[in-house]
Amino acid sequence: MSGRKIEGSVALVTGSNRGIGRAIVEVLIERGATKVYAGARNVDSVADLVAAHPGKVVAVELDVTNADHIANAAALATDVSLLVNNAGVASSMGVMITDPATNPLARTEFEVNVCGVMTVTQAFAPALNANGGGAIVNLGSVASLVSFAMAQTYSASKAAVHSVTQSLRIALGNTLVVGVYPGPVDTDMAAGIPMDKATPASVAHEILDGVEGGVEEVFPDPMSKEMGAFYLQNPKGLEQQAAQMAQESA
Ligand SMILES: NC(=O)c1ccc[n+]([C@@H]2O[C@H](COP(=O)([O-])OP(=O)(O)OC[C@H]3O[C@@H](n4cnc5c(N)ncnc54)[C@H](OP(=O)(O)O)[C@@H]3O)[C@@H](O)[C@H]2O)c1
Repeated sequence: MSGRKIEGSVALVTGSNRGIGRAIVEVLIERGATKVYAGARNVDSVADLVAAHPGKVVAVELDVTNADHIANAAALATDVSLLVNNAGVASSMGVMITDPATNPLARTEFEVNVCGVMTVTQAFAPALNANGGGAIVNLGSVASLVSFAMAQTYSASKAAVHSVTQSLRIALGNTLVVGVYPGPVDTDMAAGIPMDKATPASVAHEILDGVEGGVEEVFPDPMSKEMGAFYLQNPKGLEQQAAQMAQESA
């Protein structure tokens, strides 16, 4: 499918108050988006973005697990041509999948990371269609491709995001659906990961390059480019490599 121009677009970004979501808002404005709806659970947390870009950044109260918030956002933002499903949580870091303690944490991960993508997209699909199809960006992870020992149910939720992304391509024929599969990015979520990390701004640029280029799978940093290439060539090999890394660090 052909790419979608960022200049002149109207976007909505979930989880836009910090991390990758905030960087996407800033880079959208930098690259000429007409308007960006900045979704946040607490709208005060995007007040500085609104003040920095008057008339261009519009705060929207949006907890992606709250049906009323989603309906209100869709009723307000009928001009959206680009939906970025960025909001996400990693609640279960370090808890093994065999430990029942992981169950409530996993439910939160699936509620936000998977059901959030589905329900927000359901609400915005009519507007995207009315506006010519537009594009949807879903934040998966390299953990969509292989399970990481330290983030087992998070990995399961991100694998589900990958599948939802594929389903949306089937369901929404004239919408470009972009899956993004980052490695570690320097945000609060990855604060405890002792690895080289990409900057949120560099990841935001790679994502928007993907939207403009019509790229359906975006690997936006050095680690994900390497893992993505390995996955496409040898998925079992990637699984074995991840298991070996987990054994070595145990
Ligand atoms: N950082 C990484 O290394 C990395 C790697 C691969 C993929 N990702 C993915 O990239 C996306 C952004 O992650 P990040 O690194 O920027 O994480 P982050 O810094 O922890 O930010 C997460 C964002 O999601 C929002 N959020 C959480 N629960 C929400 C809910 N129920 N409704 C609406 N918003 C909610 C948070 O809002 P509050 O401030 O209100 O909590 C925050 O804005 C996530 O989907 C994540 O899984 C991140």
